[in-house]
Amino acid sequence: MTTYVLVGTSPTDATRRHELRSQADRLGAELAFLQLATPSLITVLDRLADAGTSRVVLVPVAGGHDGPGPSWVRRIAAHWWRAYGEGAPELATTAGALTDDASFDDLVAEARPITHGGPGLTSPAWEDVPRHRRQVLVCRGPRCTASGAEDSWVALVLALMRHDLGDDDVLVTHTGCQLPCNHAPVMTVQPDDVWYGAVDAAVAEEIVAGHLADGQSVERVRLRRQVRDH
Ligand code: FES
Repeated sequence: MTTYVLVGTSPTDATRRHELRSQADRLGAELAFLQLATPSLITVLDRLADAGTSRVVLVPVAGGHDGPGPSWVRRIAAHWWRAYGEGAPELATTAGALTDDASFDDLVAEARPITHGGPGLTSPAWEDVPRHRRQVLVCRGPRCTASGAEDSWVALVLALMRHDLGDDDVLVTHTGCQLPCNHAPVMTVQPDDVWYGAVDAAVAEEIVAGHLADGQSVERVRLRRQVRDH
């Protein structure tokens, strides 16, 4: 059983969500958004995975000229799949964006798998220790999640893509509570030992532009840390 999800990608798509909702209903698909509207793609994928859905095909839609292309949907979905772990459904994306209802069947017939879930899953790409220069630890503990960590994470990943920073440059990893919950949402950049608090989507983009792309930490939202003497 395959579940199809139309994915709004651009700010324009967020403003025409009622139109997209009607289109999704006509096509028997779910609806999700990469940015600026709910439900987010990650929320929908979590829900489908929790419900035991075995296969999901993501179909990007692209209204206007200011949105990311289908490859961004693919990358966000791949990040999600790795974070979800065991029990994630098989995931595929269409090569192009949906333009009208008539193109839906042809697009989904040629959807390319991101993964094939199931026991024994492996990949040669997972053999090597990653070569990234920095690692961003995104807190997904209870307080950070309640404070919008998911939106911050999506904004972070999209900004990394805009700056052409891949996994070899910045490895993004989800964590449980990192402890300074009062500053939620929290992100940490290692090995720089820089901690950030109140990381909303706009701040996440600032961290990418200032710190991860340019090497300058964003002092305005930096949390000071005392390293314990032994
Ligand atoms: S939940 Fe994120 S720091 Fe505690």
